[in-house]
Amino acid sequence: MDKKQLCQAAMDMLERAYIPYSGFAVGAALECADGSVFTGCNIENASYGATVCAERTAVFKAVSEGRRNFARIAIAARSDDFCVPCGICRQVLAEFSPDMEVICLNSAGESRSFSLRELLPHGFDGSFL
Ligand code: THU
Repeated sequence: MDKKQLCQAAMDMLERAYIPYSGFAVGAALECADGSVFTGCNIENASYGATVCAERTAVFKAVSEGRRNFARIAIAARSDDFCVPCGICRQVLAEFSPDMEVICLNSAGESRSFSLRELLPHGFDGSFL
């Protein structure tokens, strides 16, 4: 899948977001090292802390299907701003692929790319344990 297709897959997931509380839809498309793609949306809960972000939905789908090496993730929202991943999602992505690419989209479909290292410098990882 090329970058444009990956970004479109993330944008398509905006329709699946379960967002009765915030109204803020997020979609994600995670490309693994083997080329497989797992998508995700945010899933909110009346107990707000039980909400899962789109990025983690995609990561957990991938890991539970046997993938642990990620190449890149595209993240979409209906916002003028580029949708960057929250801190918890940065940490979860870094657990598996600290050098992956993070493609952040705005509502116009424009993108800004970061390395995950850039978004989470000096992260805590298994080497501390
Ligand atoms: N959200 C994500 O899905 N990903 C992020 O990286 C930022 C926040 C969701 C969680 C919640 O459902 C809504 O956006 C507002 O915080």
